[in-house]
Amino acid sequence: MRFETEGRCFVMQRLRIDLIAAARPNFMKVAPLFHELHAQPWCEVRLLHTGQHYDHNMSKAFFDDLGLPSPDLHLGVGSGSHAVQTANVMLAYETACLAERPDLIVVVGDVNATVACALVGTKLHIPVAHLEAGLRSRDRRMPEEINRLVTDAIADILWTPSPDADENLTAEGVAPEKFTRVGNIMIDSYELMRERIEASGERQRLGLKNHEYAVVTLHRPSNVDEREPLTALVNQLTDMASRLPLVFPVHPRTRKNLEAFGLWASLSKAPGVQLVEPLGYVDFMNLVCGARLTITDSGGVQEETTYLGIPCLTLRTTTERPITITEGTNQLVTVSTLGSAVDQILAGHEAHGRKPELWDGHTASRVAADIRRRLCVEPPLAAEAVVESGAAV
Ligand code: UD1
Ligand code: UDP
Repeated sequence: MRFETEGRCFVMQRLRIDLIAAARPNFMKVAPLFHELHAQPWCEVRLLHTGQHYDHNMSKAFFDDLGLPSPDLHLGVGSGSHAVQTANVMLAYETACLAERPDLIVVVGDVNATVACALVGTKLHIPVAHLEAGLRSRDRRMPEEINRLVTDAIADILWTPSPDADENLTAEGVAPEKFTRVGNIMIDSYELMRERIEASGERQRLGLKNHEYAVVTLHRPSNVDEREPLTALVNQLTDMASRLPLVFPVHPRTRKNLEAFGLWASLSKAPGVQLVEPLGYVDFMNLVCGARLTITDSGGVQEETTYLGIPCLTLRTTTERPITITEGTNQLVTVSTLGSAVDQILAGHEAHGRKPELWDGHTASRVAADIRRRLCVEPPLAAEAVVESGAAV
């Protein structure tokens, strides 16, 4: 970057930015920002994958779909308990930062790597920015809520998706100059991939008729880790499938538990139910776009359905994304209210909602502008004008 003072011009190394991804919901948050920053002459991006998700269709499929290159660094942490996973990311990422120190670390979302890399950066005095800051479920039994709280408490720059997030940060005493509302980066991914999503053909491949099926995704420990709630959910879904066919791309955590509790065989054979492997982003969004409704406990699906105006029934008692209820198409349900909520929608009683402000496909460019503003990067230079040296010229 170029810095001019007292008639002298300094051409300095480009800003080195680490972009951290770990698990499925991170890849579509990182991709638009990677593409945006990659096109800027004033920075260079190092893409890191912690390895939390590693199956092809939980990881590589998203790199392929979203046009991401192979990560510059793969930390290979894999699965483990929260402590093991968080600690292993910290150990590996600290080593990476000491070997090649970035000027800025960008963490996204609320997974274990988000907090782990934020901790490493802060303690090495490297500025940390959190994309998707300020969301709060107020349910501290969710590991993600702890990750959000800790990350936002220590990060230097907080990029929020919605006014409720700004209000949460203000209520927690965060100074207003620390945060910038940039909108929802997930919508950038959707808009980047819109044509390919429409052309994917996944609905036809699965024999689904437009607006005559529901998409189901479940992976929250509170829904799938214990026998009793998971059995109750399976019973509900089996019953519902006789009224509305269901397609259910099954998350590996959920599959493991369905099998362990002896529920897989009956659910997979239930009339109207299609259990499929987790899908890549383009094929999954093709299913969502054609769905009559979705049944989910995913954070991202609540947002995507609000943007698309598709009814979303969220099997949780809280959401960190309340704007999807107040402005969008989302409603919280329990296993016992799910059936009647589906019937209401099938009878035409549904929220229509609107797209929240700044959920417009331009979040990545707002983030890039904010980095430049905050880190005093001069206006873009022609790439060839950038000399990678710290010397005065
Ligand atoms: C993680 C995130 C959660 C996010 C979800 C998105 C945390 C605390 N949790 O939960 O916030 O909503 O990702 O999908 O960071 N497994 C595989 N293959 C894989 C990955 C996982 O088989 O590629 C299995 C393993 O048995 C593993 C289990 O799934 O133990 C859970 O994976 P893990 O990454 O720990 O948590 P998720 O439930 O995926
Ligand atoms: N998703 C996908 N394939 C699937 C299920 C989900 O591409 O089979 C996408 C979807 O776009 C969703 C995103 O993954 O928004 C988020 O992932 P997930 O639900 O695993 O995590 P969360 O958002 O709950 O943290």
